[in-house]
Amino acid sequence: MNKLSVSVVFLISSLCFLNVNAEEESIDQAKFSPVMMADALHLVIEANRRVYAKTIVDRLSNKHEIIGTSEHFLDERNLALPAQLFRLGAESVDETVKQQDKLKFSYSLKSLWPIRKKNGAQGQIEKDGLEYVSEYPEEPFYANDISGGDKELVAVYADIARSESCVDCHNTHKLSTVRNFTLGDVLGGIVIRINY
Ligand code: HEC
Repeated sequence: MNKLSVSVVFLISSLCFLNVNAEEESIDQAKFSPVMMADALHLVIEANRRVYAKTIVDRLSNKHEIIGTSEHFLDERNLALPAQLFRLGAESVDETVKQQDKLKFSYSLKSLWPIRKKNGAQGQIEKDGLEYVSEYPEEPFYANDISGGDKELVAVYADIARSESCVDCHNTHKLSTVRNFTLGDVLGGIVIRINY
């Protein structure tokens, strides 16, 4: 290679390097708002919840009666209730989030009329959010919570009784405080919290 071609090769590779760096920088600095992140998390969480209820519980337990679903699923070797699977996933995410300090977020399934007391609203903002999505199920609720010192987005999305089994179980469970739910009612909400 003569001097000129060496310089050209050097120039091209430098430009490529700069370009890769510029791309890396823009990937890192791309602006995703906390609301967009909450909406995306909600899509995934909700899809998993729906698929488990429909494809696993409704089909294997209710339709083909191959395996039961029960609250004491570990002892009884049954499937977990959809809300339990949700909580196990959320608790596992909590553990992972605790081990790093880059990204702080959590999610939970809550209600104004919870079967499990711990699933009640945590503070006024969550209460407002659950009331809002009960009234407007199609619209998410967003608010900022600064009570913990940091700025935290609280996003709430309606959790709707899409099958009779939701209604039957929630109306008859011994710890239920509401017994007149009907199909399509909002039973609670998915609450997502993101520190930013
Ligand atoms: C066989 C009974 C059963 C069925 C079916 C059922 N749930 Fe639940 N649900 C429960 C129990 C028990 C809990 C509390 C679980 C926990 O956190 O340990 C719960 C929790 C919840 C919560 C959180 C608030 C609370 O009540 O503790 C919501 C919201 C909820 N379920 C909605 C639904 C929806 C929507 C469906 C249908 C897709 C459904 N559930 C199906 C029994 C049931």
